[in-house]
Amino acid sequence: MADLTVEIAGLRLQNPFILASGIWGETGATLARALRAGAGAVVTKSIGTEPRQGYANPTIVEVPGGFINAMGLPNPGIDAYKEELETALGPGKPVIGSIFGADAREFSALARRMEGFGVAALELNLSCPHAKGYGAQLGQDPDITRKVTSVVKAAVRIPVFVKLTPNVASISAIGKAAEQGGADALCAVNTLRGMAIDLDLCRPVLGHGMGGYSGPGIKPVGVACVYELFKAVRIPLIGIGGISTGEDAAEYLLAGAAALQVGSIVYKKRDRTFRDLCRELDRFLASHRYRSVRSLTGKAHGGS
Ligand code: DHB
Repeated sequence: MADLTVEIAGLRLQNPFILASGIWGETGATLARALRAGAGAVVTKSIGTEPRQGYANPTIVEVPGGFINAMGLPNPGIDAYKEELETALGPGKPVIGSIFGADAREFSALARRMEGFGVAALELNLSCPHAKGYGAQLGQDPDITRKVTSVVKAAVRIPVFVKLTPNVASISAIGKAAEQGGADALCAVNTLRGMAIDLDLCRPVLGHGMGGYSGPGIKPVGVACVYELFKAVRIPLIGIGGISTGEDAAEYLLAGAAALQVGSIVYKKRDRTFRDLCRELDRFLASHRYRSVRSLTGKAHGGS
């Protein structure tokens, strides 16, 4: 087997496939299950200061090329999350704590708590496409992105990843701002803003109306964002968006990703996801005479 190990900002992963936030990782038990099923690492659901119910149902709909979801950041709040993390840390692999807040102060308080619970790194959700006052409403602004990142960096010692929204004019401008704020890696991309309309009911399908589009349909958008970011920043990139096969993963790696996150495919394949992806990526590496995952990163950029 080829060498599938990768290292991101000091985190050593057995393979490059990380469970993305919000899918199958709602509890400590499901995070641990994903790790036991072969995930290189997992990202928690985004956790905020207070418990939140989330939006009214329906919160997810299948559409051509993937899903549109708008959950509304449901989570038990940071105080209750310690217990979930104890379970998630059981398998002894890296758990990345995703947090969301309304401003830099809230982010830094959450970051410290998460660090205290034992996560290996943080992922700042500056990219949820539909939550008022959170996510992309902060992450579409380079100054706010820089500020939140630098305040969090000053508050913790563990690596800080910033998850970016593709719903911007220039993702490299936002990526550079996060890098200037001291981000250790960038995660690209979160979901694309999207909506489905119920033709009989004459209204949006989802309870919240607007949602985030994920799955194979957004892969070319994610690959383009990673390719653009690779030219703009020096910190490592984690590619996300529609990765369903080992070849999809290879495409992101060649565009510039050093590791990958998977979400929508986990909906379909659950426990089989990670072993299938590793086997497929290994087959790709062997057939193209690559010895390691690491040797693929950025190769599509040639000498330029
Ligand atoms: C939700 C959706 C997102 O895309 C995200 O980044 C965070 C939260 C949600 O609906 O809960």
